[in-house]
Amino acid sequence: MKIGIDKIGFYAPHLYVDMNKLAVARDVEPAKFTIGIGQEEMAVTPLTQDTVTLAANAALEILDEKDKQEIDFVIFGTETGIDSSKAAAVYVHDLLGINPDARSVEMKQACYAATAAIQMAKGHIALNPDSKVLVLASDIARYGIRTGGEATQGAGAVAMLISADPKILALEEKSAYHTSDVMDFWRPTYTDKALVDGKLSNEKYIEFFAKIWEQYKEKTGATFSDFEAICFHLPYTKMGQKALKPLLPETDEVTQDRLLENNEASKTYNKRIGNIYTGSLYLSLLSLLETKEDLQEGARIGLFSYGSGAVGEFFTGILQPGFQNALQPARHKEILDSRKEISVAEYEEEFERRLPTDGSNLELEKEDDPSAIYLAGIKDHMRQYVNNKS
Ligand code: CAA
Repeated sequence: MKIGIDKIGFYAPHLYVDMNKLAVARDVEPAKFTIGIGQEEMAVTPLTQDTVTLAANAALEILDEKDKQEIDFVIFGTETGIDSSKAAAVYVHDLLGINPDARSVEMKQACYAATAAIQMAKGHIALNPDSKVLVLASDIARYGIRTGGEATQGAGAVAMLISADPKILALEEKSAYHTSDVMDFWRPTYTDKALVDGKLSNEKYIEFFAKIWEQYKEKTGATFSDFEAICFHLPYTKMGQKALKPLLPETDEVTQDRLLENNEASKTYNKRIGNIYTGSLYLSLLSLLETKEDLQEGARIGLFSYGSGAVGEFFTGILQPGFQNALQPARHKEILDSRKEISVAEYEEEFERRLPTDGSNLELEKEDDPSAIYLAGIKDHMRQYVNNKS
């Protein structure tokens, strides 16, 4: 039985800051951010959006009523959740009106969580072939103003429907994975900003890809020439090629050129949003599928997932006949193009705005946030969500 991605969509906040302008404000050569890091725009989150609303808005883009009745498992990957106890999946389940006879759970392992969610969904469908699983990957990446990681912030969510006989990508059986306790990036519960050793995190990412790729080759006998493209977790869009390039000499030039060309296509949406942590790999997959027009059914796509701390996995999928018909490039272009640019000063102000942490109530004005699902405030310690479309 084939199991894999049947539908995929994303959502990002409606505000962004231009990376050239951020560079000027930080007294940095703009090319460092746009070429060296590879980011053009960075999503900025208004208080009316959080990881729950971003995920719910992303799921709203792909689900129809039949899907909502057939889903019996909602898995929410995030490292920037809103509650230490209750799963964000439960809020999304309610906001979208999903079948009540469903499981709902939240998963965490930095940027790896959505990959674990997909593997869990695959196992669930193998046992229950009629099931559909909603996998959500949603995060708000915050390092802090004027920090080393500032240019690699971002926010957004990817929603995927995992099912048997998928319309887009059938996942293959074998994958390779690795865990090692590394303090390259973490976030203690007392802070809303990530702590990071940037240099170490780059080194570990590259080391994990090399190690896991070797393991994958040993398990499967595959080589780079078996792949049409390899998508990477993209904390910033330069990162994937930094891991890939040192290994390319092991393959022929035609394969090298193809993988590098497709690597460019796989950065398209990420360049305009920034890091969305656990959703970044899947935003990259979506970029590839929706912007590389000559992809053929039957092509094999590799996916490298890396979650600091650290867990990595390399897994693969095969593009299905007619996969293009299940994509929404025009809608995704509209989501990106209709966003509003804000100045660096406005971004800084937005960054410092916070929900109360002392238990007090707050009512939020939706202002110009066009999202169907948004946070209307906090009352008696409970977030008040609204779905305009329900
Ligand atoms: N024109 C073109 N390129 C320029 C340039 C210019 N004027 N000036 C500098 N550059 C290039 C540099 O040569 C460098 O390129 P290479 O990496 O190819 O050598 C690149 O711009 C970045 O320059 P620096 O290394 O000097 O940048 P930095 O030290 O200021 O910060 C960073 C980079 C470490 C990624 C930092 O932004 C950071 O800490 N980010 C957060 C952590 C992160 O994203 N880590 C990634 C791996 S961990 C992971 O993947 C999990 C996750 O999501 C967090």
